Amino acid sequence: MTTPTTHRHDREADRPELKLARAGSLAAEAEECLSTDHLKEAVASIRERRGPGSEFLGWLDLPGVAKTEVDELRAVAEELRTEVDTLVVVGIGGSYLGARALLDALHWQRRRSASPEILFAGHHLEASAITELLEILEDREFAVNVISKSGTTTEPAIAFRLIRDLLHRRHGPQGAARRIIATTDAKAGALRRLAAQEGYRCFVIPEDVGGRFSVLSPVGLFPLAVAGVDVETLLGGARQQLDRCLHAPEAEVHAIRYAAYRHCAFRRGLAVEVLASFHPSLHQLAEWWKQLFGESEGKEGLGLFPTAVDYTTDLHSLGQALQDGPRILLETFLRADRTEAGPILPHAKEDLDGLEYLAGRSVGEINATALEAVAEAHETGGVPVAEIVIDDLREGSLGGLLAFFEFACAVSGRLLGVNPFDQPGVEAYKLNLFRRLGRPGS
Ligand code: PA5
Repeated sequence: MTTPTTHRHDREADRPELKLARAGSLAAEAEECLSTDHLKEAVASIRERRGPGSEFLGWLDLPGVAKTEVDELRAVAEELRTEVDTLVVVGIGGSYLGARALLDALHWQRRRSASPEILFAGHHLEASAITELLEILEDREFAVNVISKSGTTTEPAIAFRLIRDLLHRRHGPQGAARRIIATTDAKAGALRRLAAQEGYRCFVIPEDVGGRFSVLSPVGLFPLAVAGVDVETLLGGARQQLDRCLHAPEAEVHAIRYAAYRHCAFRRGLAVEVLASFHPSLHQLAEWWKQLFGESEGKEGLGLFPTAVDYTTDLHSLGQALQDGPRILLETFLRADRTEAGPILPHAKEDLDGLEYLAGRSVGEINATALEAVAEAHETGGVPVAEIVIDDLREGSLGGLLAFFEFACAVSGRLLGVNPFDQPGVEAYKLNLFRRLGRPGS
């Protein structure tokens, strides 16, 4: 169980913050929804750990993970940090998106660190990319963290077999085993069996935590620790956020307000939620968010389809459709308050590029103005615009953001009436692939 801490009603504790000033009449509907029995029951079912899929609510406990467990994964991470120049993280879906999201979001703080490079594999089947990765690894001193809860997923299993083969040829079976860390189920699956037989070091994905809710387990924490990320602060941010989600009055919890808002949008007939960030470094975080909401809610013909854009880049491609296309969208801005202001535009003797009116202003300031301009335009174009604001792009804020989305997603799924913690639709593809590839027993 997460340990409740005293509720602080200051600004820091209220982040991530949901702002609905540009959401039109949906804002009022969402506020009304907060006092309904339907909403209160949805929240209570998560807080009291009951209802469909409640055996997969272990993610609520992850930020409170025992210090010894964190110390253990940090010790192995420290060892690798001195021995290898590259860590290859092999996994797909929830087994890689979280770590990748955080590494990108924290890139500015990691750019001067001498940490091993983290490469990702096993999340696709593009032959040329896998060939290129194997070529790159020929010249690297690398270790592998293979991550799979089921231990049977095709894409990571293929990549792992290829990479393991490379390690075996270079170091022999024992040398390879020292460089392989498996993160998988405590007992079941082919990866667990292989790890036991070959003597790999292992981290456990708790049985009661599904893939897309596993970022704060060793699935995310170990690669992040190898990359030099402060995992304690990340967990602390998540812990503080979940504490609010679990214990504060519903109407004061922004994650619950976000769930209510999404539900009202769906009931009104909107079909697509566009997560829009003005920080390209949050691109992968939006990929993680897409999986979280897409796999949790897209069931029984229900759920908002989650998609994402990077601004201002995509304003020059999808901007037209957002402004004037079918009115089936709601847009959710994701932004950090305190980010690097960046370079200041210099003065020029002659204003040949016509930019002198911007001289003296920072790129960060111009980006912030672009956000206001886009929000105004899309609101005028009939798109409800919500904003989720975090303090900065550091571990604590990002940990809070992950927990915010996880809790909002659980409540949102409950409001829809689906089981937010299963993914029967994913199995259909996996089974077809096994059959077509001729897997024994398929
Ligand atoms: O959220 C999920 O459960 C899935 O998307 C999985 O993360 C993904 O299919 C990978 O599964 P596994 O970790 O079993 O290889």
